[in-house]
Amino acid sequence: MSSTKNLPLPPGKLGLPLLGETIDFLRDRSFSQKRQNWYGNLYKTHLFGRPTIVVIGADANRFLLTNENTYFTSSFPKTTKELLGAASLAIQKGGEHLQRRKLLSQAFQPRALSGYVGGMEAITHGYLQKWEKIGDLTWYPELKKYTFDVACKLLIGTDTASDDEIGQFFEEFSEGLFSLPINLPWTKFGKALHAREQLLMKIEQIILQSQQQTASSQDALGLLLQATDEDGSKLSIKELKDQVLLLLFAGHETLTSAIASFCLLLAQHPDVMAKVRTEQQNFDFSQPLTLESLKEMTYLEQVLKEVMRVIPPVGGGFREVIQTCEFNGYQIPQGWAVLYQVNRTHRDESIYTEPDSFEPERFNPDRAEDKTKPFSYMTFGGGVRECLGKEFAKLEMKIFAALLIRKYQWELVNGDKPEMAMVPTPRPRDNLQVRFGCLSK
Ligand code: HEM
Repeated sequence: MSSTKNLPLPPGKLGLPLLGETIDFLRDRSFSQKRQNWYGNLYKTHLFGRPTIVVIGADANRFLLTNENTYFTSSFPKTTKELLGAASLAIQKGGEHLQRRKLLSQAFQPRALSGYVGGMEAITHGYLQKWEKIGDLTWYPELKKYTFDVACKLLIGTDTASDDEIGQFFEEFSEGLFSLPINLPWTKFGKALHAREQLLMKIEQIILQSQQQTASSQDALGLLLQATDEDGSKLSIKELKDQVLLLLFAGHETLTSAIASFCLLLAQHPDVMAKVRTEQQNFDFSQPLTLESLKEMTYLEQVLKEVMRVIPPVGGGFREVIQTCEFNGYQIPQGWAVLYQVNRTHRDESIYTEPDSFEPERFNPDRAEDKTKPFSYMTFGGGVRECLGKEFAKLEMKIFAALLIRKYQWELVNGDKPEMAMVPTPRPRDNLQVRFGCLSK
């Protein structure tokens, strides 16, 4: 340990007092690329009030994410912690986190997922028909309503939630997650705390109704109400409320970004669009989708994977160092934050050929570029905190993409290369303006 403390810190600058390099980090899209060019795959900076070490690449990701609870633990800004709630999986730590994760994962097992397919398909059809009627679409807010409806229906059994009060409270709640921690009625954080209380009240009503139903429902809440851990104990209503709130939040923001990127990248790459359409011709459109038929859409799977490599919905993850340790000859000191970077890892030339180009074939079984090294494909994180909803997300994306491509076409209204906004999740700045319609025969 004493020898670790004698090691040098990684290169880099801590920037201004208090602010550090936070403003540049938020404003400059090439913040990390520049520093990677100057310092390499490990550098120090100062972000969101804390000295931080940024790590890039498969080896560093593996070191970070396989040492959770030994050297590292999860860490969130105060606003996020208070809004998500102490009993939410993202905030829980150590043994409690592992135990809860096991319990919650019961809602994401293959059998549960198979029960979600019909509901996802029905909601998707409804939205596609609505968009066909609109024609000239500002798609991003519509995609957000769509993913929120799917999350509400399949996670808590509530219909068309995006038109209801829940949707509105959620907007306010999400806006406060990464805001300044000032709790006044007119600040983002204050409004978000109020929205949290309202949401918890609604969720409690829904839980109580669900408990009274004689037949257990097919949604995640129905499964979680039945779920028990090894000792046979169940989640309390108080904890369940925080967990459901987290699932609803995590279950739609990132997915909106991912499916919007799919729509964008396919409009930009007609050759890929044509190949996806050709693959769909192998299926009988009059038959409902099943987990088995979706599994056969192997090219679509590669396309979706490539979409999230090129534009990952989550740019990275923060951890806190709980014990000083060493990586590649540098000291990683206790009390500092560490940030792993999905974006930069996905541009590693030693893993991905021509990493800046959109090429789904890199994931076909012969090339399988990401399999060269574990922790080089990081869309869903890794280790004990890997995304709990990964299979749910992949399922929803595939259903959306297959049904969309079978019958519809769309073109970008504002030119081929719309500017992107990156915070909180990547999206085209014009909110994805498209001309949408049925495929011409
Ligand atoms: C394309 C969509 C999605 C992406 C890219 C994504 C990405 C991620 C990432 C990178 C993490 C790990 C963060 C870290 O290391 O700190 C994570 C965690 C998590 N995700 Fe997702 N996610 C998606 C969809 C979903 C969905 C649909 C759900 C639930 C229905 C969900 C629930 C969660 C939960 C509960 C965690 C926390 C896990 C834990 O701390 O043990 N996510 N997600």
